[in-house]
Amino acid sequence: MNPDLPTLRKNLLIWFAKTKRDFPWRKCTGWYEIFLSEIILQQTQVVQGLPYYQRFITRFPDIYSLANATEDEVLQLWAGLGYYSRAGNLLKTARIIAHDYHGHFPQSMKEALTLPGIGSYSAAAVLSIAFNKPFAVVDGNVIRVLSRLFLIREDTRQSRTHNEIQQRANSLLDPAHPGDFNEALMELGATVCSPQNPSCTNCPLSGFCAAFKQNQQHNLPYKSPPPAKRLVREYVCIIRQDNRYLLRQRPHKGLLARMWEFPTIAIDDLNLDEEQLQQKAEQFCGFPLKIQTTGNKMVHIYSHIRLEYIAVFFLANLTEEIGPAQSRWVNEKELERFAVHSAHRKIRLNN
Ligand code: ADE
Repeated sequence: MNPDLPTLRKNLLIWFAKTKRDFPWRKCTGWYEIFLSEIILQQTQVVQGLPYYQRFITRFPDIYSLANATEDEVLQLWAGLGYYSRAGNLLKTARIIAHDYHGHFPQSMKEALTLPGIGSYSAAAVLSIAFNKPFAVVDGNVIRVLSRLFLIREDTRQSRTHNEIQQRANSLLDPAHPGDFNEALMELGATVCSPQNPSCTNCPLSGFCAAFKQNQQHNLPYKSPPPAKRLVREYVCIIRQDNRYLLRQRPHKGLLARMWEFPTIAIDDLNLDEEQLQQKAEQFCGFPLKIQTTGNKMVHIYSHIRLEYIAVFFLANLTEEIGPAQSRWVNEKELERFAVHSAHRKIRLNN
């Protein structure tokens, strides 16, 4: 296809100006709001990310307040959003911008890409939307729109296909309005060119769309099945003393680094009986426990892991507040102030 580029761009931008959704970061022109929203919205749908954006911008209204935050504060606000390394990277990047760049976002793609957690998507998004620089963004929505527009049938999981889509996006980008153009393509993918039921009759680009012409929009994009996830199975020990629960912090590196959780016991091959469970939990705690009951199997899906877990409820009977390293006794209200990861937040405590 050799589209009439000026008309394509014009159609898309007019449609965007008329129909764009009313997001808080679209009301302002500061780069910090745009940066924050793009980091939060990566791998997250706007409806899901919006309340997190609002909490972050209220608590950290500018780059310096964010740079001065502690890791625990950022992690706690991030809890529930997933992909937790993004939270640590957000803070590292904020500190670098505050200290090394005097509070200004770097102005070249090369420099932006050196910031922790900033890849080609977020660099292009911030540079184009906040500074009108001509860099095309490619996210999941853009992949869908462009693979339909250009009838790209190759596997979008492959980096070769991704590169092709990036090149197509680069050549479509309106150099006069790169930020609006990028946002418009993402918006089109999110609202009109949707995965299951694209609304082609409302699409400003349907006249250019090769998939629409051949009625192939429902078959694109093609993405090969994901590799099998690693299975992790564990017991989660809900250890209660009066109205408090034993919570521990995960190691500072690895999966869910620094997040808080209830102590866990790995299920290797064999399930454990109640006596064995009690023994293992006592070994971990260093004080006697009484097992009460065991919950049903629960499942939590991560990008590479399928976690299957069973909550086991214990009572402690301590006369003084002791516990293993990196642990705290907290009541249900205090629990909300800890960055407990999502799988454990789903457990009902008063079983
Ligand atoms: N998804 C992520 N960033 C977006 C933006 N700026 N506009 C629309 N959808 C988005």
